[in-house]
Amino acid sequence: MSPESQIQDVVNSVYEKYAGLNEGEVATYIPELSKANPHHFGISIVSTDGVVCSAGNYEQEFTIQSICKPFAFLLALEGHGREGTLARVGVEPSGDAFNSIELDPKTLRPYNPMINAGAIAIASLIKQNPPEAGVRAFVERMGKAAGRSLRIDQDVLASETFTGHRNRAIAYLMLNWGVIEGEVEQILFQYFSQCSLLVNCRDLAMLGATLANMGSNPVTGQRVFDFQYVKDVLTVMFTCGLYDHAGEWAYHVGIPAKSGVSGGIVAVVNRQLGIAVYSPRVDAKGNSVRGIAACRELASQLGLHAFEFTNVGSSFMQWLSAD
Ligand code: DON
Repeated sequence: MSPESQIQDVVNSVYEKYAGLNEGEVATYIPELSKANPHHFGISIVSTDGVVCSAGNYEQEFTIQSICKPFAFLLALEGHGREGTLARVGVEPSGDAFNSIELDPKTLRPYNPMINAGAIAIASLIKQNPPEAGVRAFVERMGKAAGRSLRIDQDVLASETFTGHRNRAIAYLMLNWGVIEGEVEQILFQYFSQCSLLVNCRDLAMLGATLANMGSNPVTGQRVFDFQYVKDVLTVMFTCGLYDHAGEWAYHVGIPAKSGVSGGIVAVVNRQLGIAVYSPRVDAKGNSVRGIAACRELASQLGLHAFEFTNVGSSFMQWLSAD
């Protein structure tokens, strides 16, 4: 049996195993998100040599929400370097909810770029003038990583703009402390637009595989991100990607990942795989219930945990010889 059909069998079996898991609720605090179908469930895996395996509703589009955050962090690092970016945001897990209204009391910066405060600080770095240009640059880069052109869901963007007062409070707190500068509404336009990017599960796995492949899309072969910053992003995904569930995730799954409140999770096996799960029922911490269960099962069946003795990182050698 080819490695491709072996992986497809594992994906199918994980899909079957968790298709009946109906715990969690669709997020409603952004009203437009409440329209998601709670039964949707998709899984995709893309390897760094371009093999794609999927099951379920993997072509169903949804807004990327917080999964935009690691990619926005990468763009900030490219534009401002480590010093310029880390002057605005830390790399420390907060152990708090994604939308907590707090800054690190020692540094007066947001704890990390995966929580909303940090992501808004990052948005202030990558926004452009006019504001549409910054959004366009983000959408284009994400499209290159996904291997197809992507677009913003204008209804979700409007819904979040009208109701996102907690994010406004966070932004004004940071304006007060000098973490961000300029027009709060323009910064939030960048952040809310990033969150409203439409992707499907396959796109998300391709985005993950582009990180796993050191910044190059494994199917198109196009270099998308500056590889020197990929390790910064994967590190912060590993320690902070699942917010106040990050420790449990590192223990049980053991690979860098990022979740979004619309029900997506992307996970990255360095030099090997991008994995994505979509299922909109989320737990109290805003993480997809089926997504966590499916990733845990995939990591176990495929031996993906970073410290798993069977994970030999063999595709790194393939990557070196292919370059
Ligand atoms: O800022 C917000 O509330 C949303 N746009 C994103 C939140 C999110 O995805 C949290 N992750 N689980």
